[in-house]
Order: sequence, then structure tokens, then C-alpha cells
Amino acid sequence: MKNIRNFCIIAHIDHGKSTLADRLLEFTHTIQVTSGQMLDNMDLEKERGITIKSHAIQMEYTYQGEKYILNLIDTPGHVDFSYEVSRSIAACEGALLIVDASQGVQAQTISNLYMAIEHDLEIIPVINKCDMASANPEEVEDEIVELLGCKREEVIRASGKTGMGVEEILAAVIERIPHPEGDEDAPLQALIFDSVFNSFRGIIAYFKIENGIIRKGDKVKFFNTGKEYDADEVGVLKMDMVPRNELRTGDVGYIISGIKTSKEVKVGDTITHIARPCDKAIAGFEEVKPMVFAGVYPIEAEDFEDLRASLEKLQLNDASLTFQPESSLALGFGFRCGFLGLLHMEIVQERLDREFDMNVITTVPNVSYNIYDKQGNMKEVHNPGGMPDPTLIDHIEEPYIKASIITTTDYIGPIMTLCLGKRGELLKQEYISGNRVEIYYNMPLGEIVIDFYDKLKSISKGYASFDYQPNGFRTSKLVKLDILLNGEPVDALSTLTHIDNAYDMGRRMCEKLKELIPRQQFEIAIQAAIGAKIIARETIKAVRKDVTAKCYGGDVSRKRKLLEKQKRGKKRMKQIGNVEVPQKAFLAVLKLD
Ligand code: GTP
Repeated sequence: MKNIRNFCIIAHIDHGKSTLADRLLEFTHTIQVTSGQMLDNMDLEKERGITIKSHAIQMEYTYQGEKYILNLIDTPGHVDFSYEVSRSIAACEGALLIVDASQGVQAQTISNLYMAIEHDLEIIPVINKCDMASANPEEVEDEIVELLGCKREEVIRASGKTGMGVEEILAAVIERIPHPEGDEDAPLQALIFDSVFNSFRGIIAYFKIENGIIRKGDKVKFFNTGKEYDADEVGVLKMDMVPRNELRTGDVGYIISGIKTSKEVKVGDTITHIARPCDKAIAGFEEVKPMVFAGVYPIEAEDFEDLRASLEKLQLNDASLTFQPESSLALGFGFRCGFLGLLHMEIVQERLDREFDMNVITTVPNVSYNIYDKQGNMKEVHNPGGMPDPTLIDHIEEPYIKASIITTTDYIGPIMTLCLGKRGELLKQEYISGNRVEIYYNMPLGEIVIDFYDKLKSISKGYASFDYQPNGFRTSKLVKLDILLNGEPVDALSTLTHIDNAYDMGRRMCEKLKELIPRQQFEIAIQAAIGAKIIARETIKAVRKDVTAKCYGGDVSRKRKLLEKQKRGKKRMKQIGNVEVPQKAFLAVLKLD
């Protein structure tokens, strides 16, 4: 136990965690790095260059003649995945806090740091990318000293690219991070901090032993689910899984025990022995609740069951994805899926397409609303299409967030205007250093899911970072805005919006849809309505698209070919009543300027 160090790396997105982790693995001869990042093994992770799932890996390192076991837990930096960060933090005694030498402290640097401090982790500050020409380590060091209240000498300068500072980091991990504590003779108490689905081995749970010893073949119980298993295999995580006969207090490892679905493994649960159980579970983590919902529909109705099977498979891997069947008058049968955030939603969509070849239409994302009727009963609604009759509603509550934005003084004005337009209330404003400011806002989550990230990025030219935390529910004056195509309401295009914005939004939705829906052989009326009241209208003029006109003469086979081609071109459309609507149109609300 004395020679074990469990640590994680926390940072803002893209500040170089994975690259630095690779250097540590290389330096300790845990792996031979050939190309790319070794810790990001999912294809999608490689392409996007971001870490989606946390990974744990064990290194051996000899320091001043003594052998140490260093368990590194890699974490993702994006706001949607901050629950993954909190899991890994709970399994560690220390954290490397990585800050990009040219970017400085950013929104998730701070939110992840607070999480680490809450768990009493020893923090080792590291300024990364010091090799870059634009690096400004002096100023970043000021920010870190200000943020942590640490000494200048405690800040390590490094580069994941050149390997600078890597040895110093390993020394600091050993010298500054305390070894795990616990009682080897006590009943087994191991904290599950993650799980993965492996198509050959089933569900594998990762744990850290707080007390006791686990041996291969032990009969164990998961405290919260009450389920019992045989520990068929236990071991440590190197580049591969390495089976061991026993793991002791302080160790980080895995267990394979015939677990069928990821639902049986609750992250934060405690593993103990059946014969000699511990008397209480380790304080677990909060359950993650989906924050963003969207409808996912197969383009071809007959693919519904395939879509269900694909979502079930995805869920084996990603317990935070939720889905339940729903039907839409416009889109037929599909599922309402719950995601942790917008990036999570995008990744699920992309995985459906790549891994399962599922061609789907997704609807505009929305949040979860609490709807109260006149009798005071509350109903959670995850789909604006499923709203009760407005005359039955007493009031509606929507989720709020506390947003933190870090930017430079040049962009404060435009950012404040943006937040105000999103119904944000300024909470406070603090200078981090020189010309960099942190601004806090109270804002409705529903306004963020629409197009906040993109707008923030463009108005700040990328010089703003953003993070948020849920901040309860509030009563708001929300109305349902419906869209009608040729008089038919299209439920998949309904949105909930604040009454003050409804008219403007209705008008802009009609204009946008006019742009996005191709002209057809008849006139199409696009209307926006609140209840029975029409508030905006646009018309798409009819066109007679004669694709065969080009084929002069009577070459029948050529004509047929062209018609076939036109048919295929229609595939990515959804027929609504007699109108063909492209996927883009279902996301029109995201594209309003
Ligand atoms: P997420 O996992 O997505 O949060 O990113 P990350 O923090 O793991 O960042 P990653 O290691 O993927 O690095 C982000 C980018 O910075 C990549 O393009 C790296 O090549 C680059 N990079 C990382 N470290 C250094 C460094 O020390 N110097 C330079 N010049 N570039 C670096």
C-alpha cells in the first residue's frame, strides 16, 4: 500500500491530458508509443481527438531505488462528461491539474479542480505545451498560483510533445501524493468507479479497494443492487487486462463475474464479500440524470426494431443513455432518448450511424419540464409534442443552470448580450488575471441546448470557455409553438418557448423552413401557431420539376434511370402528409439567426 499512488489527470478540453498521459506511459515503459494516443482506443475518440470514456492504467516505476505502482486514471474534459470525472476522482488520492501554456485557466479547469478539492485530492499543477511559440508560462503560473494559493516552485512546466517535465511529474506524484489508506484485515469494501462492455468478456467493472482483499473465485455482492456474483477473474489494468490471484487494499483493478448488462453495475456501488460483508457502502456518487432529450426515428418505418436493438447495444456500453418508445404523428414510431448534454447526443447519433448503420431522423433537442395541472399534480414531460392541453395547465417549471464563462475583456460585451438574449441573469463577474474574466449566469438550460455553444464560440472567436451546473427548476411563462404544413400540425417541429420570444421565433421558424423545404409540385403553406392562433405564415410556391425534360427523344431506359435516381435522392426525406421534409428542417430551430 505504501508504494501505491492513485492519481488522475484533470484539465480543460484539449489542454493535452491524453498526450501527456502517453508520455508518462512511455517513460515508465508501460507502452511503446508508435503513433497517436494510446489511451484513446475507440475509433471515434481518435477521430475527434477527445477522450469519451475514462480509462485506468497501471504503471511500474522505480524511484530512488524503490519500486512504485502508479495507477493513472484518464478523464474526459468536456462538460457533458463531467460525471466521468467525478467517478475517477473518487478513486484517487491525487490529481495532476493540466493547464495549457497558451490558453491559461479555463472553465473546466476550474470546475474539475473544485471537484478534486471536494474529494481532498492532492493537486499537482502542471503547465503543459510549454514548447509552443505562443506559450506564456509566466502569466499562466500567476493564474495558477492565484487559483490554488500554492507556491510558484510547486508548478511544473511540461510538454506532452517533447517530453519536457515528465520525470519531474513522476517524482511529484510519488513525493507529494499520499499513498492510499485502509485496513487489509477489514471486510472487503471496493468502490466501483467505471464499467465497460467487452463483446468477448461481457461487462467488466473497474474498482478501487478501500479495505480488505479480493481473491479470484471469491463470492461477492454488489451492495446497492444486492446482486451476487462469483469473481471469475480479477486483475490489474495495463494496456491489457492482467489477471491476478488477489488484489489488496489501495489497488485499482477489474472484476469479471458474469454481469449481463451495464444496469447491474452502478457506478459508485460497493463490492463486498457475501460471507463477511462490510456494514456499510462507501459513499457513492450522485445518479446521473439525462439533461437533454430528443426524438430519434428510423427513416424507414420497418427499421424500428433494428433501431431498438441498436440502442440496447449502445446502452450496454453507455449506461447514461436512456430511451423509451414514443410515436409521432409526423414521424411514426421511434424513441425519445435522454442524453447528458449536446455533445453526448451528437456522439450517440454518430455511433448509431457508424457502428449500426442506422439511418435516423433526430428532432430538436429539448429539456425536461415539470408541468403542474390545476389540481397541483406534477408531470414530467420530455417532449413538447406530448404537452397536455394548455387550458389544463396551471404552470410550467423549467430547469435552470449556473453557467460559468471565462473570456478576455474584449468579448465581455457581446457575451453579455448573448446571455441576456438567452434569458440569463448575471450573478457575478470576477477577474482571474490581467484581462481575463470569469462571468457567472443563471440561465434556463432550454436556451443553452439550442445554439448557445456555437454562438458563444463565434462571437468570442473561440476565446471563451463554458461550463455549467444544474441549478434547480423555476416557473416560467412557456408556451408551445406549433408548426403546420398545409394546415397539418407537425408534432416533431413543436417547441416550448418563452412567451416573450414566441412571436419572433414563430416568424423566424417559418422563414427558415421556407428555405429548407424544397419546392414541390404544389404550393405549401408553412404556419406557426400558439394554440389555435396562427402567428406567422410563409408560402413555398409550386414547381413542376420535370427531370426527364433533358432526355430528348424516346430513350425509355435512360428516362427510367433518371426517375430512379430522383427516387433515391428523396430517401433522406420524410413524407409528412403530402409534403416531403428533409432532415435539416427538423433541426431548423437550431439554425435561426
Ligand atoms: P480531451 O481528452 O479531448 O479533453 O483532450 P486532451 O486534454 O486529452 O488533449 P490531447 O492530449 O488530445 O491534446 C489536444 C491537442 O493538443 C492535440 O492536438 C495534441 O497534439 C496537442 N498537444 C498536446 N500536448 C501538447 C504539447 O505539449 N505541445 C504541443 N505543441 N501540442 C500539444
